Amino acid sequence: MTEKLLSTVKIERNGDGIAWVYINRPEKRNAMSPQVHRDMSEAFDELELDDDVKIVVIAGEGGVFSAGQDLKETFRGLENDPAERFRQEQRYGKWRWERLWNFPKVTIAMVDGWCVGGAFTHFIACDFAITSDEAQYSLSEVNWGIIPGGMVSKAVVEAMGYRAGLYYCMTGERFDGARAVELGLANFAVPSAELKARTQAFAEEMMKKNQNVVVATKQVYRAIKRGMDFDQSFDYMSAKFTQLKATDSNRGYDTGLSAFVDEKSYRPAHDPYPMSTAE
Ligand code: ACO
Repeated sequence: MTEKLLSTVKIERNGDGIAWVYINRPEKRNAMSPQVHRDMSEAFDELELDDDVKIVVIAGEGGVFSAGQDLKETFRGLENDPAERFRQEQRYGKWRWERLWNFPKVTIAMVDGWCVGGAFTHFIACDFAITSDEAQYSLSEVNWGIIPGGMVSKAVVEAMGYRAGLYYCMTGERFDGARAVELGLANFAVPSAELKARTQAFAEEMMKKNQNVVVATKQVYRAIKRGMDFDQSFDYMSAKFTQLKATDSNRGYDTGLSAFVDEKSYRPAHDPYPMSTAE
């Protein structure tokens, strides 16, 4: 295992294609200070270019996903300097939404402990979310006097239904991992003690797939979700289909089609095409 330590972020790589990125301020419940944003931006710069990394898991050290923005350092610390705050946000804040939303690798949020306020942004921006049963979620902004700002309300609108989203934004009421699954915010909930192993197992399943196809699939889904009518969606998907077929280094279309139609050696609805045999 290799471990890289930035001041507030830890990156673990085990040589299996999966990178684990931990916000590493457990003593502050992984609240996001300006340094966290700088370190996460650096981490994503590095992981995007690391060809050995196919899947990125985002978590928090010490069994806490994140207590949201650091109210002391990010809010109070920059409250008399709106220009600097804007500059920081422009330069280092984008990892939480734009960067993750468009990240060209699979991303998984692994949530244990608290996921509060601003942490909803990167939680929702990941492709998948696996939560512990015991995790506690709260859009706490309303409880202390601000709106769910930054990209939080936008992220909630993207991910939750109208009634539930408005309810939790307006009440700040806490909910647990099981409720996060019911709300469609997380894919599944497991006991905290099994969270890392189950996340590893899920990531390994995703590793078996043709990553070019997986990434193109999420790009299509998100582009359509951002706002396209039927005609635009049809055109976009046709173009993306052709682009993938032309650029897929694994030649998934040809090998998969041939294995099913000609060789009758596998069934796509059962399993992914074994990447070890892809040319
Ligand atoms: N910003 C700055 N410091 C924080 C934050 C935060 N968001 N959350 C926790 N901390 C610090 C505490 O100040 C404390 O520091 P100290 O030891 O120097 O006093 C330390 O982390 C531990 O916090 P506790 O409250 O003692 O931990 P506990 O486990 O009892 O509670 C909880 C955790 C529920 C997360 C609580 O700390 C809390 O409510 N934090 C604020 C959460 C919040 O509302 N975040 C902002 C949302 S809005 C936004 O993100 C824009």
